[in-house]
Amino acid sequence: MIIAPSILSADFSRLGEEIQALEKAGADWIHFDVMDGQFVPNISFGSKILEDIKSLTPLPFDVHLMVKEPYDYIEDFVKKGADLITIHIEAVSDPNRYLNKCQELGVKVGLSISPDTPVSELESYLDRVDLVLVMSVHPGFGGQKFIPSSMEKIEQLKKLREEKALSFLIEVDGGVGLKNSKELIAAGADVLVAGSAILGSSDYQKTIEALR
Ligand code: DX5
Ligand code: ZN
Repeated sequence: MIIAPSILSADFSRLGEEIQALEKAGADWIHFDVMDGQFVPNISFGSKILEDIKSLTPLPFDVHLMVKEPYDYIEDFVKKGADLITIHIEAVSDPNRYLNKCQELGVKVGLSISPDTPVSELESYLDRVDLVLVMSVHPGFGGQKFIPSSMEKIEQLKKLREEKALSFLIEVDGGVGLKNSKELIAAGADVLVAGSAILGSSDYQKTIEALR
C-alpha cells in the first residue's frame, strides 16, 4: 500500500519541517497539488516550491496538476523534480499529446477523473498510463467529504485492469481517512492520498500506519 500525504494540508510556514516529518512517519510518496484558479476554484503553488523542497527528501513527488491545458508546464515540473505527473482528462483537449510528452521526457504519467466523469472516458488511454487517479471529492480544496460513488469507480478500474492485463496503479484522492481506508484498499486502491487525515492529526506516523 502506497500512502501519499497531500502537502496542501501542511503548515506552509514550516513546509520543510513538514516534509521531513512525513518522511520520518513512513510516507511513501509526497502528493503535490497544483491548482490554477481556472480548472478549479482555488490557487495553490507551482514548480518553484517543488524545486525548493525536492532536495529535502528522497521520496517520490506525485504531482497532481489541477490545471487547464498544462502542456507548456510539464517539462518545467519534470526539471524541478516531479517523478509522476497526473493530468485531468477534463482539463485537456488531447490527452494523447500529454502522454506522448511525458513519455518523451521519461516521467511517469497519470490520468485523473473528477467525480462527475465516468471511468469509460479513460478506457482508451489505460494501456498508456502508469496510474489512474480517482478524485473522490470535487477537486479544489482539502478537507471535503468522500463521495461514495468513487468506490465503484475503483472496482471498475480494477476489473478493467485485470481484463486488459494492464498494470497501472489506482490512486484515490479526497476525503480519504481512517473511516474508509480499509474499504478503499479492499475495492482495489493501490495509492491513498490523504491531506487533512494525516496532516491534521497529532501523530503522523500512527495515522499513516492506521491508513495502511
Ligand atoms: C483536492 C486535492 C487533494 C486534497 C486532499 O483537490 O487534490 O489532494 O488535498 O485533501 P483531503 O485528504 O483533506 O481530502
Ligand atoms: Zn490531489
